[in-house]
Amino acid sequence: MLRTIEVSGVRFRVADEGSGPVILLVHGFPLDHTMWSSQIEEFSKTNRVIAPDLRGFGGTDGALYSVSMEQYADDLVALLEALHADKPITFCGLSMGGYVGWQFALRHPKWLGRLILCDTRSVADSAEAASNRLKMAEIVTKEGPEPIAWTMMPKLFAPTTSERRPELTEQIRRTVLATNPIAIAAAHRGMAVRPDVSSFLPTLHVPTLVIVGEYDVISPPAEMKAFSDAMPNARFAVISNAGHMAPIENPSEVNQVIHEFLGR
Ligand code: MLT
Repeated sequence: MLRTIEVSGVRFRVADEGSGPVILLVHGFPLDHTMWSSQIEEFSKTNRVIAPDLRGFGGTDGALYSVSMEQYADDLVALLEALHADKPITFCGLSMGGYVGWQFALRHPKWLGRLILCDTRSVADSAEAASNRLKMAEIVTKEGPEPIAWTMMPKLFAPTTSERRPELTEQIRRTVLATNPIAIAAAHRGMAVRPDVSSFLPTLHVPTLVIVGEYDVISPPAEMKAFSDAMPNARFAVISNAGHMAPIENPSEVNQVIHEFLGR
């Protein structure tokens, strides 16, 4: 069921399907919950799957000038409370959704039973990357989402996905182009100042699954393996024939490793 629910003055659009232990699916930048359609279909057979559009994205309003990863994480807890979700939950985030996942784990540990981090990073931006984000935030605010689509699209997919599955790349391009430029700018400003969580990794004892597409050039396998190894209770999985958008590019393999992680 796709529903709209008002929480602290923000109208969230959220897919809420199935029943059982909650899996929260948190999308990447600059996308919305529809990137998780294969996982919503699969896991709603056994779980309550909650997949929101983050503040300002998709069908959710409330975009601000800048939104921190901490703010998105706090929004999600307010949303879970409003949806009367049972804790603890499994948090699954992709890329920016993973940055939010770190803050969710650090700020709201009582909510967290398991953590799934797909195609994401533990380090902060370099000074150059942060400065580029701030410039892009200004450009997108003036010109709309097209410049972000041009810069991001070539980096998101494995070569085989781009060649053989043009409908997938087109689906993502359409989502990016439909995204509110204010939300894109706000998230870019928030990601530019996101903290480096490397020093917290040894303290995160929650069972964790780290997933990366073998051809991910934004959060490459070697970098993700290194942060997975720094966590005391993490397992690491490389997804074949996939890049940064592994859950869309190879959903059967991603779903399989998630099933195994959940003990099925
Ligand atoms: C994402 O997919 O969410 C982005 O690649 C995150 C980022 O820009 O660092």
